[in-house]
Parts: sequence; C-alpha cells; structure tokens
Amino acid sequence: MNIFNTLFVTTLPVVPKSIIRKFANKYIAGDTLQEAVNLTRELNKKGIMATIDVLGEAVEDKQDALNAKTECLEVLKAIDKNKLAANHSLKPTSLGLGLDYGFCLQNLTEIVNRANELGQFVRIDMEDSPYTNKTINLYNDVYKHYQNCGVVIQSYMRRSMDDVKELVKTKTNFRLCKGIYIEPKEIAYKVKQEVRDNYINLLRVMFENNCYVGIATHDDYLIEGAYKLIDEFKKRKDEYEFQMLLGVREKVRDKIAADGHRMRIYVPFGVHWYKYSIRRFKENPNMAGYAFKALFTRGR
Ligand code: FDA
Repeated sequence: MNIFNTLFVTTLPVVPKSIIRKFANKYIAGDTLQEAVNLTRELNKKGIMATIDVLGEAVEDKQDALNAKTECLEVLKAIDKNKLAANHSLKPTSLGLGLDYGFCLQNLTEIVNRANELGQFVRIDMEDSPYTNKTINLYNDVYKHYQNCGVVIQSYMRRSMDDVKELVKTKTNFRLCKGIYIEPKEIAYKVKQEVRDNYINLLRVMFENNCYVGIATHDDYLIEGAYKLIDEFKKRKDEYEFQMLLGVREKVRDKIAADGHRMRIYVPFGVHWYKYSIRRFKENPNMAGYAFKALFTRGR
C-alpha cells in the first residue's frame, strides 16, 4: 500500500462528498431502484445473478425504519415485476435493530413474508459486533416461520465457528465473508492468514453439513480454496454460489462464471451511498489514491 494512499484513507472524512461520489460510482448502481433494475438486467444477460440492497444503516428513529421497510418491499416488487434473477439483501439496523428488537423483527418478518409470497429470498447482512447476537437471533426467529432467508457469517470473528456449528443444525443458507468492520483483537482475528484459515474451516463445516453457501470473496487464495472444497465434497452447481461486490475484480468474476459456477453480484443503490463507499475505499486504498489525486487537480 502506497504511503499517500494510506494517508488519504485516514483523511477520507474531510474529503468533499462530490469527490468521493465520483469514485464511488463504480461501487453503486445509482440513486434509484430503476438504476439497480437496469444494472441487474445487464448482469442477468451475462448469466450473473444479483442481490439488490438499498443503501442505508443504523436509523435513529422508527419512522426512518418504516421508510426503509417500504423501500425493501419496493425492491421485492421490482424483482418480481421485471422477472429478475435476483434476491434482496438488507441491514437489520436499517430496520431498527438498534432501537427495538421486537419492532425490527416485525419489520423483517413483513419483508420475508412478502418475499415468500413472491418466491424470493432475503439475505440478512451482518453488521458490527454489537449486533452479532441480535442478528443471529433475528434470523432464527424469522426462520422458524419462513425458510426463504439466510444470514451472513464473518470469518474474522472468533465466535463464528461456534455460531456455524449451531446454525448448520437448521440447514441455514449462509453467506460467508471475511467481515468489513473494525473489531477489537479480543473478539476478531487480525492476521490476514488467520482470517483466511478460519474462512476455509467454516466453509468446510458448512459443506459437510450440506448447507447452501454464498462464497463471498474476491481473494484468489479463498477462491482457490473454495474450488478445492467444491471438488472434495463433489458439490453440485446448485448447492453453492460465488458472490462479489459490484465494481470489484470483474475479470475474476467473469472467469468464475465462465468456469460454470453460479455468480451473484451485490448491487447497492440509493441516496445513502456515503458510508458504503467509504468502506469500499478503505478496502482498496488504490481507489482512494485516485480520489486523492482528483482532490488536488480539481478545477485545473
Ligand atoms: P480482500 O479484501 O483480501 O480482497 C481480495 C482482493 O480483491 C484485493 O487484493 C483487491 O484486489 C480486491 N478488492 C477487494 N476489495 C476491493 C475494492 N473495494 N475495490 C477494488 N478491489 C478490491 N462484510 C460484512 O461484514 N458483512 C456483510 O454482510 C458483507 N456482505 C458482503 C457481501 C458480498 C457479496 C461480498 C463480496 C462481501 C461482503 N462483505 C460483507 C465484505 C467482506 O466482508 C469483505 O470485507 C470484502 O469482501 C473484502 O474481502 P475479500 O474476501 O474480497 O478479500
């Protein structure tokens, strides 16, 4: 990582939003649901599926959570109306998980129920550690009534193996990722190889227990490791899928799809694009470097 890019990443909060937006366009479909629909249609033409996410997290009052729920229901409607090969991802704090568990559960249940009526699937994203228990509880509470939902496991969390050993008992549909939030070393692996080793160990347990897994990574090491496990367990193509973020490593994405594996792209849209984009920049300081240059060449 170049020193200027590192420096830039640490100063991101003071960079004008207009500059961030210019470089964020790569990672988001646009401000509107229609733009997400159009982009999903293009992906579908290439044989790639999508999971559509309305950007936004951690609402501060219940009305905002209700508005977010309405937006989620609109996504389901659009997937149905446009016959998209897509499902829906959502963040529990956008539905009020930080305000009131019961209220959030009610919102999520309404969404998963509607998805069930439309024959669709809902993925519950995993956020930072204050919400891990609550998110797993939410998932379990909804899953008792509706099986068209699944949850995300982060391989950087030390607790994940225990969580997975419980969740495989009900044949959970997982998304497995490394994890994106900054967590203390007491609860999270910090060494890159430890996070990777845990990822592979978790994937093995999921496969051993015949659970469907969304293998969410852009890391060649993990893609290679997943290929080996798919061979070892003789998995059929409809027993797992690979998942990637919009705008990231598209050549690798196309190669995995060309190898005959299912591929799903995370397609975020909406006006609350800022926090999501900052997280993507922190993952890829080279992008931040371009934004840094733009900052100092603006208007010239
Ligand atoms: P790693 O970060 O090592 O990336 C591997 C390579 O990919 C890099 O070397 C680089 O070349 C490229 N790359 C990665 N990020 C890039 C970027 N932003 N721009 C350009 N290139 C980039 N996390 C979470 O905590 N909760 C969640 O619910 C989800 N959900 C989720 C869904 C999907 C579909 C994906 C793909 C990821 C998530 N994540 C997530 C994020 C995940 O936890 C993780 O932070 C990222 O996927 C990056 O980890 P990798 O495994 O890709 O490895």
